[in-house]
Amino acid sequence: MKKHLFINGKWKEATVYTDLFSPYSGELIAQVAQANDEDAEEAILAAEAASSIMKKMPAHERAAILEKTALLMEERKEELARLLAMEAAKPIRTGRTEISRTIHTYKFAAEEAKRIHGETVPLDAAPGGEGRLAFTVRKPLGIVGAITPFNFPFNLVAHKVGPAIAAGNTVVLKPAGQTPLSSLALAEIMLEAGLPAGALNVIPGKGSVIGEKLVRDRRIAAITFTGSPEVGIAMRNKAGLKRVTLELGSNSAVIIDSNVDITQQLVDRCVLGAFSFSGQVCISIQRIYVHESKYEVFAAMFKTAVEKLVIGDPLEESTDMSALISCKEVDRIASWVSAAIAGGAIALSGGKALSPSLFPPTILTNVAETATVSCQEVFGPVVTLTPFTTLNEAVSAVNNSRFGLQAGIYTNDINAALRAAEDLEVGGVMINDIPTFRVDNMPYGGLKDSGVGREGVKYAVEEMTELKLISLKL
Ligand code: SIN
Repeated sequence: MKKHLFINGKWKEATVYTDLFSPYSGELIAQVAQANDEDAEEAILAAEAASSIMKKMPAHERAAILEKTALLMEERKEELARLLAMEAAKPIRTGRTEISRTIHTYKFAAEEAKRIHGETVPLDAAPGGEGRLAFTVRKPLGIVGAITPFNFPFNLVAHKVGPAIAAGNTVVLKPAGQTPLSSLALAEIMLEAGLPAGALNVIPGKGSVIGEKLVRDRRIAAITFTGSPEVGIAMRNKAGLKRVTLELGSNSAVIIDSNVDITQQLVDRCVLGAFSFSGQVCISIQRIYVHESKYEVFAAMFKTAVEKLVIGDPLEESTDMSALISCKEVDRIASWVSAAIAGGAIALSGGKALSPSLFPPTILTNVAETATVSCQEVFGPVVTLTPFTTLNEAVSAVNNSRFGLQAGIYTNDINAALRAAEDLEVGGVMINDIPTFRVDNMPYGGLKDSGVGREGVKYAVEEMTELKLISLKL
């Protein structure tokens, strides 16, 4: 089935189409249009023309379009979850959770559209500022260039498109190469929801052509990107003065303190955090630090639970983990794990690819802090298990990372929890939970190489609006 570009509210044929295969079955699922430079130019011109409509559209109308988007997604929930299983090999139950979250994200965006406001500013606090009434307003930026990843093809797109439309911007969206079908389905849904032509343009294509053009083009006011640190940092260096929000990687960690009971619930939560969507999640648990007094019991229960995970067809209800996004990723992860083992690590579970597209859930112990599986982002089903003696030592180990997205700490000592929360160098600390916890209205983003700026609809709206001061001399 041929899938075209979506520009200016219409489907447009491209000059080149590429075959899209299911990562799990290898079957051909679509032929997808690849935008070239001229298509990208047309999308930018359409977004520019639609900007004047969106800037004037009242908040209640923007909200109504976003609410309708959520409603239409609700009606097509199962079909959309199946699409995720096909294009991303996301297990169907995990896909349904993503669609539910996406619906919430558009609902949050609808609500935020109605409460974008400024504040009064007491200019008379400064000598010379007397006799004025001053206030700020938030204005749309114009065109937002959104470049999105494969791991949450609906919800991470929603975190860019939702706030952009809520704020009165227009969007040119370049979805990830492996997952364009979800973004094209969104275009269809938003058109039906009443979004004006040109307000959302979806142009699958090469990062080196489309991504590059969006990042460099002066008509694009902001870039919002989720992906690897290397690509994100390169984008920021080319983006000039445009706003850039980057949600990059992490090697997220959880700490389990000595005073915590190792319950099945806690163990299952860690299994979910480490292996949901095969660890292809920016806040997936990659490192688990357990107090030495609880280490053996945790390791045994964790191994037992991990070995019950069902690996297979993403469309089967029983499947917990399926194919990784590409065989190249399987090879990379296998080589990182082999290097760790050659350096002294022990595979408590897994450790070797099951097939060219499947890598099993893997638990490594005795891993050197400098091993790639520990200090770089694996973005796969691999977790390291390390005992610690003091909490300070565990917090330092978590912080000994180029990344800082989210961290988790389980402890029954509230003072220790708050001290750790203060000291952990991350954008979000989850006390008595895993770092993988996220709901869609919370601020989300990182420090260090994990990125700049925050998502979570209200916070993304701030990133996607310009603050204007208005001062009236009385
Ligand atoms: C991400 O991988 O950055 C998103 C994680 C999530 O939304 O749960």
